[in-house]
Parts: sequence; C-alpha cells; structure tokens
Amino acid sequence: MIDLGASQPFASGYNRHCFRHPDDPLLCLKVLRPENIEARYQRQPLAKKLLGKRRIDDNAQELKAHQQSAIQRLLSQGHAETVWQHLPRFHGSQPTTLGHANVSELLLDDQQQPAPTLEQYLQRRGFDQPMADAVRRFCHWLQHTGILTRNLLPHNLVIVTRNHQPELFLVDGLGAPTIPDKLAALPAWRQRYIARRIQRFYRRIEWELGDRAHSWEQSQKL
Ligand SMILES: Nc1ncnc2c1ncn2[C@@H]1O[C@H](COP(=O)(O)OP(=O)(O)O)[C@@H](O)[C@H]1O
Ligand SMILES: [Mg+2]
Repeated sequence: MIDLGASQPFASGYNRHCFRHPDDPLLCLKVLRPENIEARYQRQPLAKKLLGKRRIDDNAQELKAHQQSAIQRLLSQGHAETVWQHLPRFHGSQPTTLGHANVSELLLDDQQQPAPTLEQYLQRRGFDQPMADAVRRFCHWLQHTGILTRNLLPHNLVIVTRNHQPELFLVDGLGAPTIPDKLAALPAWRQRYIARRIQRFYRRIEWELGDRAHSWEQSQKL
C-alpha cells in the first residue's frame, strides 16, 4: 500500500488529486476526490443512480479506456511507441492510503517539474506557430491511430518538449464511454467521431483565447 499521508497533490482536477509517487518521482498517482464523486452522484436522476457509482469513477473509466481496441491492437502488434507518443505511459491501478490510484508516467518540464497544460500555455503565449504545429501533430495521431477520446479540453493536455519541439499529451479524457463497442469498431464511424472531436477542439481553443463573454456551454449554442 502506497502511503500518501505526508504528500500534497502537485495538481488537482475537478475529480482527482494528482500526486508524485513518494518512492518514484517519475510516476503520477491519481486518486478520486470523494467529495466530488458523491456530489456528482447525488445530482443524478434516480434511474442513473441505480447504475451505480462506477459509471462516474474516473479511474475505473480510464482503466477501461486503455482497453479500447485501437490501443490494444497497436500494443499487440508491437507499436507501443505509437501509443505513447501522445499519452502518458499507463501502469494500471495501485492501492494507496487515499484509495485506489491510477499510475502513469509523470510528464515533466525542463526543470524536472510537472509540465504545464495547453490551457496555461494559451494564457501565457497564445496559439503561436509551434503550438499550432503541435496541435496538428496530435490531431493527426488521433486520426492515424483511431484512438477514441472524449471532448478534448486544453486543461487535460500537457505540453512536453520532445526533439526540441512541444508535443501534446492527453492526461485525462481518454475513451468514449457512451459509445457501444460495435459502433466503435466501424472504421468509417470512428473517423467521423474523431473528426468531430477535432473540430470541437479547435473551437474550444478559440474560445479559450477569446473574451469568454459567453460560457463554453452557451457559446456552443450560439
Ligand atoms: N501524467 C501527468 N503528468 C503531469 N501532469 C499531470 C499528469 N496528469 C495530470 N496532470 C496535471 O493534473 C491536472 C489534473 O489531472 P486530471 O487527470 O485532469 O484530473 P481530473 O480527472 O480531476 O480532471 C491536469 O490538468 C494536469 O495539470
Ligand atoms: Mg481533467
């Protein structure tokens, strides 16, 4: 059991706290924020409550997302390097004193500190040419591999320098939990789904760069 009693998270999303592994500073441990899981659960209608809490357990969803056919096919065909070009290496689940953690590669900047997100980059430097090129490479990788994701959000993409250029890594939002496996197995359908995620990703980047006069949800309805 990993003891996180003396640790502080280096970052937190809405649903999970992220810690550096106390015995291995190159690993990231993500544990659920129980208060948010409970709040989300309580907000659901009864019919959805009956389906249980696992549906809204982001660690369980992420474990399942790594089992998706596009990833498993690449791994079994010896193309692991392609998978981990834009995803942190994933090491499954481990018990900790704060509950089960998903264990992944910790993405680091040049000072060996946790690397910034695309959201932070856009705020500091805007959508400059090196980042436009990085986004294009990331989107090409999605289309080329057929890996399915949820909506792509800048705070869920971390930027790492590889071969002297920035590269995006998806740290959260892998998988398409609402899509039936049979549909996801159809290549033409998958390409359409991915094209829509990419379109929406560019719209989201524009929204992040704008005055945010409307919330993201509102701006989608305009
Ligand atoms: N593997 C990682 N390497 C570096 N930073 C990470 C990594 N995973 C997550 N982070 C940081 O932690 C934040 C929260 O992680 P995330 O998985 O998005 O949590 P949540 O599920 O709560 O949204 C991210 O926005 C990012 O800043
Ligand atoms: Mg997140």
